[in-house]
Amino acid sequence: MDSTKLIKEKLPRHIAIIMDGNGRWAKKRSLERIMGHRRGMESVRTVVRECNDLGVEALTLYAFSTENWNRPRAEVKALMALLKRYIRAEINELHEKNIRVQAIGALENLPEDVLKVLQEGVEKTKNNSGMVLNVALSYSGRDEILRAVADIADKVRQGALATADIDEQTFSGFLDTADLPDPDLLIRTSGEMRVSNFLLWQIAYTEIYVTDVLWPDFSRDHLYQALVDYQTRRRRFGKTDEQIAP
Ligand code: FPP
Repeated sequence: MDSTKLIKEKLPRHIAIIMDGNGRWAKKRSLERIMGHRRGMESVRTVVRECNDLGVEALTLYAFSTENWNRPRAEVKALMALLKRYIRAEINELHEKNIRVQAIGALENLPEDVLKVLQEGVEKTKNNSGMVLNVALSYSGRDEILRAVADIADKVRQGALATADIDEQTFSGFLDTADLPDPDLLIRTSGEMRVSNFLLWQIAYTEIYVTDVLWPDFSRDHLYQALVDYQTRRRRFGKTDEQIAP
């Protein structure tokens, strides 16, 4: 796809992706599921590079959900190993590209070695001013909201926050994504029409793009197709067409 079709001023500031279909990709080829995840990592590399080159401010990838802990132990173990390997292998290049790595989710549930490598990556890149690569790990939107509610309750009990001051902006500030704008575009691969407990609060007005392409097959062209489609959308945020017409 020709990148000149894209309007630079109308690019999403924040793109979120549900990277689905790794298992199906592998099954179609009679391979182990982990082979699908491995190939999925290549798509991660492509998408990170392209979004960074385009000047996207933030990219959030749903790498491991709270529910994913219920997968067969061998698959969980392999996924964790893959994650660790990705951070180890890529962190220097991400740093050189001025990318800031962040993670959201109940990170304390990650194996110690994975958490350590992740924290080192976050620490190394924390002062970078380029794209935020935000990895959702042991993440679920409901869990994130509950953790925010508990934090707010603590603050109110301590007298540090008044109930009357809990507005949308305050609430957003208690979420894991506190420093990020809400996603403008949510991409989901492999055709499923679900949000699967991802960024539930943050996607209130996000444009959703679902493609049948399985995540390991998701290429630069597919990303550009999603972006071109996004640029045809009229984002009304609850207003009428006339109100937003230029
Ligand atoms: C969904 O496919 C994918 C996952 C649960 C894991 C995604 C992880 C990666 C692509 C690699 C690591 C990512 C980073 C950011 C380093 P599925 O297994 O649910 O596919 P299926 O629905 O076809 O079974």
